[in-house]
Amino acid sequence: MSDIARIVSEIAEEMRQRPDRGDVATYIPQLARVDPNAFGIAVVDAAGNVAAAGDCEVPFSIQSISKVFTLTLALGKVGEGLWTRVGREPSGSPFNSVVQLEYEHGIPRNPFINAGAIAVTDVILSGHQPREALGEILRFMQFLSDDRSIYIDEAVAKSEKATGFRNIALANYMKSFGVLENPVDFTLGVYFHHCAIAMSCRQLAMAGRFLAMHGFNPTTGCPVVPDGRARRINAIMLTCGHYDGSGEFAYRVGLPGKSGVGGGILAVAPGKASIAVWSPGLDATGNSHLGRIALERLTKAMGWSIFGA
Ligand code: DON
Repeated sequence: MSDIARIVSEIAEEMRQRPDRGDVATYIPQLARVDPNAFGIAVVDAAGNVAAAGDCEVPFSIQSISKVFTLTLALGKVGEGLWTRVGREPSGSPFNSVVQLEYEHGIPRNPFINAGAIAVTDVILSGHQPREALGEILRFMQFLSDDRSIYIDEAVAKSEKATGFRNIALANYMKSFGVLENPVDFTLGVYFHHCAIAMSCRQLAMAGRFLAMHGFNPTTGCPVVPDGRARRINAIMLTCGHYDGSGEFAYRVGLPGKSGVGGGILAVAPGKASIAVWSPGLDATGNSHLGRIALERLTKAMGWSIFGA
């Protein structure tokens, strides 16, 4: 067994046994049904070797992790012009904050808070029907993971649509400033559905490889994005990927990472590996409690923190 495979299975075993598991999100009722004892981890290294353990093959709701991929698509569509629609500074606020949007005249602080991700989704939607935009996002995930079985969990999308009052408020507020081009219902429909994409840790780690490998998809050898763009997406993941928990994540883990309220985290060790972890219980900032601890263990053991061993 390689070092990394041993470390990954030791981490999974420790996480399986820990009593402190955080609290599963309940504001999207369908997410409250997930087993809080689940734990999965998958690491794809630069040579393409996969080390995975625990519930690494179980699909879970990727939620806000989808925002990394919608940001990538929107930058591909409109380039740097995207930054007139959304900022790229950390917010220091919860992911669904309303008050900050008012201060900043409807321009969201960054593409990972909910308001910012809704604005990014609107950019992808322009010129398309919602069904086409959603198909583009899903196919992008399938292409990056090299796995056509990735799907949208309709029950999760429906559950969020029925209870998404904050997001509806954020979207309407942005619309009043002309920040959204499309009908609010259409933009939110695409947003709720891309948050409801279900993927396993293995699939997610595969999808993140281009960010770890200078923009290249190692399977095909083709660039997904230019090197400089991968670097910049990683920078935004580091500074904004865990909302008001981003500082703590950088301090403890030391990698660009993006969390979701489904309990997943995608983390990128540039030049070394793409990593996905999943544990549904969240901490007070809405980020996976054991997911963060597992990544802290892994980066320490492998010397992967971007700030030094
Ligand atoms: O819009 C929402 O509230 C969810 N679809 C996504 C939020 C999320 O994942 C925040 N991340 N930790």
